[in-house]
Amino acid sequence: MDHEDSWRTSMERALELAVRGPAPDPNPRVGCVLVDDHGLIVGQGWHHGAGTPHAEIEALRSLSRPAAGLTAVVTLEPCNHTGRTGPCARALIEAGIARVVIGQTDPNPVAAGGAAALEEAGIQVIRGLLEDQAVALNEDWLFAVRHGRPKVVWKYAATLDGRSAAADGTSRWITSPQARVQVHRERARCAAVMVGTGTALADDPRLTVRGVDVPRQPLRVVVGLRELPVGAQLRSEEAPTVLLREHDPAAVLAELDRRGIRRVWLEGGPTLAGAFWRAGLVDEVVAHLAPALLGDGAPALIGAGVSTLGEAHRLVIDEVSMIGPDICVRARPDCEHEPRSRPGSPPRPGSRPRPGFPHRPVRPHLDPQCGAQRRPDHE
Ligand SMILES: NC(=O)c1ccc[n+]([C@@H]2O[C@H](COP(=O)([O-])OP(=O)(O)OC[C@H]3O[C@@H](n4cnc5c(N)ncnc54)[C@H](OP(=O)(O)O)[C@@H]3O)[C@@H](O)[C@H]2O)c1
Ligand SMILES: [Zn+2]
Repeated sequence: MDHEDSWRTSMERALELAVRGPAPDPNPRVGCVLVDDHGLIVGQGWHHGAGTPHAEIEALRSLSRPAAGLTAVVTLEPCNHTGRTGPCARALIEAGIARVVIGQTDPNPVAAGGAAALEEAGIQVIRGLLEDQAVALNEDWLFAVRHGRPKVVWKYAATLDGRSAAADGTSRWITSPQARVQVHRERARCAAVMVGTGTALADDPRLTVRGVDVPRQPLRVVVGLRELPVGAQLRSEEAPTVLLREHDPAAVLAELDRRGIRRVWLEGGPTLAGAFWRAGLVDEVVAHLAPALLGDGAPALIGAGVSTLGEAHRLVIDEVSMIGPDICVRARPDCEHEPRSRPGSPPRPGSRPRPGFPHRPVRPHLDPQCGAQRRPDHE
């Protein structure tokens, strides 16, 4: 096996290790293996989450021989900043590592510069090996680094005529038990689950992850000025809850960003979701549509800043699937159609027509360019 084959095999191993790290974590998932001149893996490590050693440090500690002369194969560029654990670039230099092979270069301005520091110290650095896989490990983290805020995934359940509650306010359960199982899986991918006070008061929800193993429950976030009653389920000890007495979605996300949250599951209701759409702060949509009609009752979305058809929030559909009897649609804002400023701006001239109705995922959800066009102030 020549060097390149051995690095590739080692990077595949490092990617496998990285996946063991917690996904809803402030930090990216990273794996590292240390390889000798014969391509033999002699050390390995991965990052177990914020506050624990970085993957490179764990790999160095796992060695039962000196590190001098080894190649470090790491999914993300070694950091160059002194956080809670000290810079990994420095640790690799001091250990006498001869070469570092990197999957993804670090987009985080605070931590970047590790590769340059390694090169300055005379270490050979190879960048971009299996980069796509390395990037895919940390889509939400990458989004948050680029936009300075968490990714917002809006989930709603509605009837086929778009109602999220009946005329008398009853809204449990619109969709099937199978769809609700899926919701718990999706919540488990998020560091925060968010609702407005309207939903909190009307439904007294628990908003916890149930039936899925999670290292810790997501933070429950309630947005609005009203108080939660004593005895509300959201006040229980089973998961942390924060009440944000706020109406500004950008301020809400700034607070969640400060808490290291990279992906938020916005579970309604229609008023809060409308406020996030108005602010251009929804990044993905997960719609569960039940084969039922209500005719009256609250719509899925209220006050989204649309007064005429030309202002509609247009979406690109990534996936359509059946969950039990319900339809699940995954979509994201179509940045070709999403006006730059709301309300009132017409669709941009020369926009592409909307694509068809694909039944399989058509491309990854992360589209940094789209976000950059819509929200230059957040870049
Ligand atoms: N089918 C579904 O997917 C689904 C999901 C969730 C809820 N629901 C249903 O929706 C109903 C509740 O609807 P809702 O619209 O009252 O719920 P909501 O969107 O959860 O809460 C609305 C409240 O949030 C606060 N708020 C926070 N930011 C705001 C902003 N920027 N603008 C305006 N208000 C803001 C306001 O309360 P303050 O006065 O306290 O500030 C507002 O009254 C319930 O019947 C629930 O069952 C259905
Ligand atoms: Zn590090």
